[in-house]
Amino acid sequence: MPVLAQIRERFEREKPLEGIRMACCLHVTTETANLVRTLMAGGADVALCASNPLSTQDETAAALVDRYGVEVYAINGEDNETYYRHIGAAVDKHPQITMDDGADVISVLHGERPEQLSEVYGGTEETTTGVIRLQALEAEGRLGFPIIAVNDADTKHFFDNRYGTGQSTLDGVIRATNVLIAGLRVVVIGYGWCGKGIAMRAKGHGAHVIVCEVNPLRALEAVMDGFDVMPGVEAAKQGDVFIAATGNRDAVAGEMFDVMKSGAIVCNSGHFDIEINKGDLDALTESTYEARPLVEGHRLADGREIFLLAEGRLVNLASAEGHPAAVMDMSFANQALAAEYVAKNHETLETKVHAVPPEIDAEIARLKLASKGIRIDDLTDAQLKYLASWDQGT
Ligand code: ADE
Repeated sequence: MPVLAQIRERFEREKPLEGIRMACCLHVTTETANLVRTLMAGGADVALCASNPLSTQDETAAALVDRYGVEVYAINGEDNETYYRHIGAAVDKHPQITMDDGADVISVLHGERPEQLSEVYGGTEETTTGVIRLQALEAEGRLGFPIIAVNDADTKHFFDNRYGTGQSTLDGVIRATNVLIAGLRVVVIGYGWCGKGIAMRAKGHGAHVIVCEVNPLRALEAVMDGFDVMPGVEAAKQGDVFIAATGNRDAVAGEMFDVMKSGAIVCNSGHFDIEINKGDLDALTESTYEARPLVEGHRLADGREIFLLAEGRLVNLASAEGHPAAVMDMSFANQALAAEYVAKNHETLETKVHAVPPEIDAEIARLKLASKGIRIDDLTDAQLKYLASWDQGT
């Protein structure tokens, strides 16, 4: 993670987060460990808790505690009660900066600890789902401190959501099931940046890709990208693998299960486990069995069998290792620089959801290119002058 490494070196010298208490609720992976070490190099006092019960790499959590003395609250496979107890423990730190992936720390602070809101300088949010939740909180007039929407930085979602989710989701499906993707009908529900990446990589593996999308512009984009586009129930009759990436509930639900082929594989790559309506599947199910780790076979009353991956939680982190370091480098560079920005500017930052400052975004792209040894041209003076003019036509 060369960009993050450069930030860490500067943080070590400049200590921009000196003495600041932080509660970070992130997937506990090796990439996150690098981010936490960067924040600590900057002088922050960090508590880390999991942002999903199935994504924690226990060996990483243990190494953070043992080698770096980090306060970590995360166990792979933790139940709901433990998950929220762990978030509570991180919030007990009385954070001045929060760092979320899905807005759970912020949700606990606003819902259960309103007396702590005034202690918080600001927060950062990693993912689309979290940004949507925080915008809803802002729209209700209840947001208690400023937020930097890291997800919306170009150097985050163009790369992490598209190439990271694209690769790691296919990786999760393959590691979980060992199916040959070539020749299968892969149904991608949702054609945002994550869905685009998943569809692109499924196609690359030789799948026939079907896209389901409610937004007409995105649906049209999927058509022009060469995919079949149709309603969910139509796709359900044809699909072999279903991958939800909508950020919304019930992307795979109800009637879709009624018409699915026997042997269909269903999984989710969205942040929360609400995209697949497990209740609807359970209602058709006579019995279940563990076909492979995190592959639950559902035997339906009519004799069909449907396989649910990773309990409907995000398959790329539960059944694989999430996005590779090369892409998390940019996402977490944004996180580190957004935390520094909050530390420096909290006295004047308005209480709203802010974009990552464009100069931070541009600097990360520049550093990433440099780390790959790739040089690009600069505009000439004549080109700059032309772009600033209006009087030169045909
Ligand atoms: N989100 C997606 N992939 C991730 C990873 N490898 N580490 C932390 N958060 C992630």
